[in-house]
Amino acid sequence: MLDFAIFAVTFLLVLVAAVLYLYPASRQAAGIPGIAPTEEKDGNLPDIVNSGSLHEFLVNLHEKYGPVASFWFGRRLVVSLGTADVLKQHFNPNKTSDPFETMLKSLLGYRSDGGSVSENHMRRKLYGNAVAAALQSNFPLLLKLSEELLDKWLSYPESQHVPLSQHILGFALKSVTRMILGSRFEDEQEVIRFQKIHGTVWSEIGKGFLDGSLDKNSTRKTQYEDALMQLESVLKNIIKERKERDVSQHVFIDSLIQGNLTEQQILEDSMIFSLAGCIITAKLCTWAICFLTTSEEVQKKLYKEIDQVFGKDPITSEKIEQLRYCRQVLCETVRTAKLTPVSAQLQDTEGKVGPFVIPKETLILYALGVVLQDPSTWPSPHKFDPDRFADGSVTEEFSSLGFSGSWECPELR
Ligand SMILES: *[C@@H]1O[C@H](CO)[C@@H](O)[C@H](O)[C@H]1NC(C)=O
Ligand SMILES: *[C@@H]1O[C@H](CO)[C@@H](O)[C@H](O)[C@H]1NC(C)=O
Ligand SMILES: *[C@@H]1O[C@H](CO)[C@@H](O)[C@H](O)[C@H]1NC(C)=O
Repeated sequence: MLDFAIFAVTFLLVLVAAVLYLYPASRQAAGIPGIAPTEEKDGNLPDIVNSGSLHEFLVNLHEKYGPVASFWFGRRLVVSLGTADVLKQHFNPNKTSDPFETMLKSLLGYRSDGGSVSENHMRRKLYGNAVAAALQSNFPLLLKLSEELLDKWLSYPESQHVPLSQHILGFALKSVTRMILGSRFEDEQEVIRFQKIHGTVWSEIGKGFLDGSLDKNSTRKTQYEDALMQLESVLKNIIKERKERDVSQHVFIDSLIQGNLTEQQILEDSMIFSLAGCIITAKLCTWAICFLTTSEEVQKKLYKEIDQVFGKDPITSEKIEQLRYCRQVLCETVRTAKLTPVSAQLQDTEGKVGPFVIPKETLILYALGVVLQDPSTWPSPHKFDPDRFADGSVTEEFSSLGFSGSWECPELR
């Protein structure tokens, strides 16, 4: 069973690995308020494990020590930023790489190249355009798959339980593989094979890395590595095929091939986007529907908007842009479900946040989960209330944190 906590947990592990192995120098707390290490060797790692997740730990940390607070990963100082205000002081759009992508790359054993500013911008643009083109050309497919799922649900008696996560995951796997990798996944068997690989990879990323059990069990380790190798070989095949033949239906990987990327980059990017695209699509849709079931009022409002925009007309991608309330529902889902609770950066030169000096090489956490539930920005933060996004300044705040607009992570599209 995959949980949101996984994202926090995996971040934690990647960060610990990064901290312990890549940056062995130790630093002093530099007067930033925070918690003392509970153990000489592990720092506050036991406290994090006891809190249940990194997010919960950070909630408590910021409650006690304020918006800029420190703690210890092993012997290394970490500074966490817990309000939108301090985040904005620290945020530098030139240095932002997608944290989810960074995390996955490091888990998959890919080198995370802190490319140059212009190269990062170029690739961001390429991904954005590639996602837009793939969505556009596969729109009829998306409609068809949605309608299939809808028909299935409509055929159920009203009282019947719907295995929501399972059905949505199926939908996400079918639609995302087709949009990213193309017609090979018209074949149900290919989707099932991909689902197995996807399941193996995510369950080990969620669990095996956490408790170290993956390294201790050679059977599982072999299975995990086999799954990754199988996926790589499928992707290599597809890349070769799509390079050689002119294919009519444009998909994501075609944009990468046409862009100025190396073979290895195309492979890594298509790996990241197919794995992450499926999981993010599945999680976002599952939570959106789940939250909708808790509020009849929101359901009615959404239904009314959809009725007004489409009426009896066919659904088109242009008209979808007019669904403002629907967009609010999705933003509120991302916020309430904390789809990405933490992101991280390494401080490359000495900097300042508020009155505090942040030494070079400090690991900085953006406690997004904490920020997204800060009652001063989000009144009644635990309530699912899409109307809060009716206010333009709230939407702007959300964009400035990277959840929509120009810094939105492309997988979220
Ligand atoms: C980001 O990069 C641009 C151009 O390279 C530069 O003009 C700008 O000052 C940089 N911004 C920050 C916050 O460093
Ligand atoms: C290792 O993993 C396999 C497959 O999940 C399992 O069947 C086996 O019991 C595990 N072995 C040990 C020693 O835990
Ligand atoms: C393609 O990328 C290479 C290196 O990554 C660079 O030297 C070259 O100028 C790029 N070409 C174009 C057309 O962007």
